Amino acid sequence: MTASDGAPPDDRPLVPPPAAFEGRVTPTADDRASFDADWPDAWATAADALDWTAGYDRVLATDADGGPPFEWFQGGELNACANCVDRHLDERGDAVALEWNGHLGESRTYTYRELHAEVNAVAAGLRDLGVNEDDVVTTYLPAVPAVVVTMLACARLGAVHNVVFAGFSADALATRMERADSRYLVTSDGYYRRGEAVDQRRRADNATMSLSYDLDATVVVDRLGTDPDVDREGRYAYDDLVAANADATVDPVSRAATDPLFRIYTSGTTGEPKSVTHTTGGYLAQVAWSTERVLDVTADTTVWSTADPGWITGHSYGVYGPLALGATTVLTEWSPDAVDRDRPWALVEDLDVEVFYTAPTVVRSFAKWGAEYPDRHDLSSLRVLGSVGEPFDAETWAWYFEHVGGGDCPVVDTWWQTETGAVLLSTLPGVDGAKPGSVGRALAGVAVSVRDGAGDPVGPGVRGWLAVDRPWPAMARELATGTAWGERVAVESEALDDADAPSDEDAGADAGAGAGASWWYRVGDEATVDEAGYVTVLGRADDVVNVDGRRFSTGEIEHALVEVDGVAEAAVIARDDPDSGNALVAYVTTDDDRTDVSTLRDALDDAVAAAIGAGARLDQVVFTPDLPKTRSGKIMRRLLEDIANGESYGDTSALRNPEVVGELEARHDD
Ligand code: WTA
Repeated sequence: MTASDGAPPDDRPLVPPPAAFEGRVTPTADDRASFDADWPDAWATAADALDWTAGYDRVLATDADGGPPFEWFQGGELNACANCVDRHLDERGDAVALEWNGHLGESRTYTYRELHAEVNAVAAGLRDLGVNEDDVVTTYLPAVPAVVVTMLACARLGAVHNVVFAGFSADALATRMERADSRYLVTSDGYYRRGEAVDQRRRADNATMSLSYDLDATVVVDRLGTDPDVDREGRYAYDDLVAANADATVDPVSRAATDPLFRIYTSGTTGEPKSVTHTTGGYLAQVAWSTERVLDVTADTTVWSTADPGWITGHSYGVYGPLALGATTVLTEWSPDAVDRDRPWALVEDLDVEVFYTAPTVVRSFAKWGAEYPDRHDLSSLRVLGSVGEPFDAETWAWYFEHVGGGDCPVVDTWWQTETGAVLLSTLPGVDGAKPGSVGRALAGVAVSVRDGAGDPVGPGVRGWLAVDRPWPAMARELATGTAWGERVAVESEALDDADAPSDEDAGADAGAGAGASWWYRVGDEATVDEAGYVTVLGRADDVVNVDGRRFSTGEIEHALVEVDGVAEAAVIARDDPDSGNALVAYVTTDDDRTDVSTLRDALDDAVAAAIGAGARLDQVVFTPDLPKTRSGKIMRRLLEDIANGESYGDTSALRNPEVVGELEARHDD
């Protein structure tokens, strides 16, 4: 494997920050140096921008060796809802907090005062239904204001929200509730998807019926105007809750900085949904700080982060970051790449959107549609463009910069994860030159490295595992406590077969202690880093794949496939795809090598849709008599990936069944 494998050549010139940014006060070029000189205490800058009900004693508490458990802002107390809503009332009560645009073209505007009123009403209503501090409240809602209001109402009560994307299946919802022992559900009668009304209530009912316990209450948002069926016991209409508590106020509950603010499930390496918990103090501080520094958001900014609130991006840069800063956040019920091609730009024009934050897959759709759509709108309000979720290729970057940004908006390619809570790698708009195809450098206070399979840092240009080398305030609680999803892992000291490249074999580990007990977190991505610290992310190096900017576990999909009658084994891999970034390909062996596989294909699609949701669509299914395996019986997914991508692969003679390779190549083209 060579250094340049998959990575763009490294002598690319930097695109200088557009002149339009000169003179802006944030972010500053000094942040990195001052943080380095005064780490971790420099993080007080982020914390002190929040309102605390009790000041913290220490910025970062660690064990005696500087390792976990990490407690950020130890001793401090605050309420996230008070920080995102109440504290803006005096000066900005009539400023717009939330601009919502619905599927049918409806719009709704909430000032901070109006948001405050509805959040209090819902908090009072939930409290009456029995929601207490630390109870987990699940939402299963489309991108409507009620999801933002419910998140903030939970935060106000010190309850923990657990937002589940509305497109997930009943099974996926049930698992995400049961694991969290969540006894409250806020859902809707239905929602609109690509012009069609979807019945959400039935899915929610199917999910709750399969739980091992009864729910304490279900609140139903009327989105489609159907009968919310609230006469049944334990079921309440959201609108009734709001009306009945119209004048109620609920005191924000003081939470310890390290208390959970929310849970969110994402895809991990094990095939089971991975629960990630974010804290009240560290998370909110770093999210607000990075929203300001990276996206250049201040109290007067209108920011449109296009991610659904069901994903971490929606939480951090659609809700908490902008609202903590007193800005205006735009929420659309539609995805900008799934509507009338003028609509995203008409909205930017109409609302004077200044910051637009989306995923490469969305920009690739825009580029495919053509420049005439953005060209015929006045996009001069735009100031910063952002991207997140998957590698952003230089060509699409350039299209975004030129046709959406008009050549004078910085494009920031931000790298982070559900687990990191906030952006860790990015260029700073107006400060750093951009290197299209690379994400940029570690932000102030953050240190990263690229390591080989033995855990040793590698030199510039050499491919390896991306690692975060220091704790950061918005780190998931599971990382901070050192339990890392039950995998407190010591790095294997023996070198791997191919020491400069991660292999599938060592993909299970999440966090490790390198020599000298210095803590670091292996993020699961492959990357290279250049002399100047710009990181090029090559993609996941574990069993997680990003499709359309969303994260799936191949193990979870495989699990659904092998449940299908007639299926013996399944391996799912990602093939490079020009539109979605990755397309899912399943290799399936059948019982007795069944030949009537055409009927199986539908059953496989249904199984995946039922287990996960419509988003995890299989692009191709290859039926094969056997899967390539190591002598110890492990499926060689990396080889399947090479075959699917038409790439050359090495010597396969070490396989237990080398003869299967030719067979696979032949079937692949069927
Ligand atoms: C990928 C989304 C390349 C990466 C906030 C990471 C990226 C995973 C980038 C996390 C980027 C995210 N360039 N790859 N700028 N940003 N990724 O948890 O593989 O849904 O590990 O969080 O997305 O996905 P998640």
